[in-house]
Amino acid sequence: MSKLTDSIKAKAKSLNKTIVLAEGEEERVIRAASIITQEGTANIVLLGDEAVIKSKCPDVCLDGVTIINPITSSKTIEYANLLYELRKAKGMTEEKALILAKDVLFYGALMLKTGDADGMVAGAIHSTGDVLRAGLQVVKTAPGCKTVSSCFLMSMPEGSVGYQYGQDGVVVFGDCAVNPNPDSEQLADIAIASADTASKLAGIVEPRVAMLSFSTKGSAKHENVDKVVEATRIAQERAPQLSIDGELQADAALVEVVGKLKAPTSTVAGKANVLIFPDLQSGNIGYKLVQRFAGAEAIGPICQGFAKPINDLSRGCNVDDIVSVVAMTAVMAM
Ligand code: ACO
Repeated sequence: MSKLTDSIKAKAKSLNKTIVLAEGEEERVIRAASIITQEGTANIVLLGDEAVIKSKCPDVCLDGVTIINPITSSKTIEYANLLYELRKAKGMTEEKALILAKDVLFYGALMLKTGDADGMVAGAIHSTGDVLRAGLQVVKTAPGCKTVSSCFLMSMPEGSVGYQYGQDGVVVFGDCAVNPNPDSEQLADIAIASADTASKLAGIVEPRVAMLSFSTKGSAKHENVDKVVEATRIAQERAPQLSIDGELQADAALVEVVGKLKAPTSTVAGKANVLIFPDLQSGNIGYKLVQRFAGAEAIGPICQGFAKPINDLSRGCNVDDIVSVVAMTAVMAM
């Protein structure tokens, strides 16, 4: 576990947030709930049938963990009514709302919507799409942001060549997991949300956001470059307090001597610590290459832009991964 993950856990412990683990009947989740509770990282709500949960891991102490069964909960009807009101214009019926309110992902999202929990973590057995869709339909986006997106905290090993980049070797990459082909408006949202995650989670004191392209300041002409130029303009207009610049090639964004040469007046070129990729293909490929070639720890995907934090687990996650993602979610609920 990296220093960064340790510091996120320490921060979470001071916050006393309530995080719902929707897949409460899954063994890895039950074991994580016990550890998180014993370490005091967050208050945990497990969703599922208490008898099933206890029989899955009879050796695990669940003192202090709240267990709620969405099928029998006294709140399910109230949640179903809320879901119906939220989605009736989109074709939701009262019958369908009641069925969905008994689904762990929707029940968890409704807990966030009503303020009964501060954040949700799921994805150990559900797909990314299913987890995000419950959030998108119920929790929706944060004020001023229309796009849910994701980023990775890329933590380079100490002593490696990559450690010279970012803050203490940490560079934030967005969006690498959610929006296949963002338009300029969405790219601007991704940039602003990634800067926020960089300061909240990675402790990056001054996020410097580079809008990446295969062109630097007009060196190439193409409609894909135009999209990044427009996104930069929108992001700068929406968040004038942030250092955001583009379009920049990756070397111009990261390497001081190249930045000075290609974009001499830029306040970001050569010292970027947040990299915004123009689409999901480049973002997803980019983070995996850095993870493999540089041996970087890829912490994420961290979902950003929701009105309350929801984070998606990999289906291959282990108990420690779940513990870390819960800590991040608690910090994001700050
Ligand atoms: N931000 C904000 N709102 C959104 C977004 C978004 N990114 N995407 C969809 N919405 C809105 C829709 O407009 C819709 O609004 P409305 O119904 O209130 O009008 C609502 O959210 C629900 O949308 P759906 O149509 O139900 O969802 P959709 O089918 O668009 O799927 C999803 C959204 C799940 C995020 C999809 O884009 C997706 O699957 N993305 C890729 C995820 C993925 O597989 N990533 C790669 C693997 S992860 C990894 O490698 C680490």
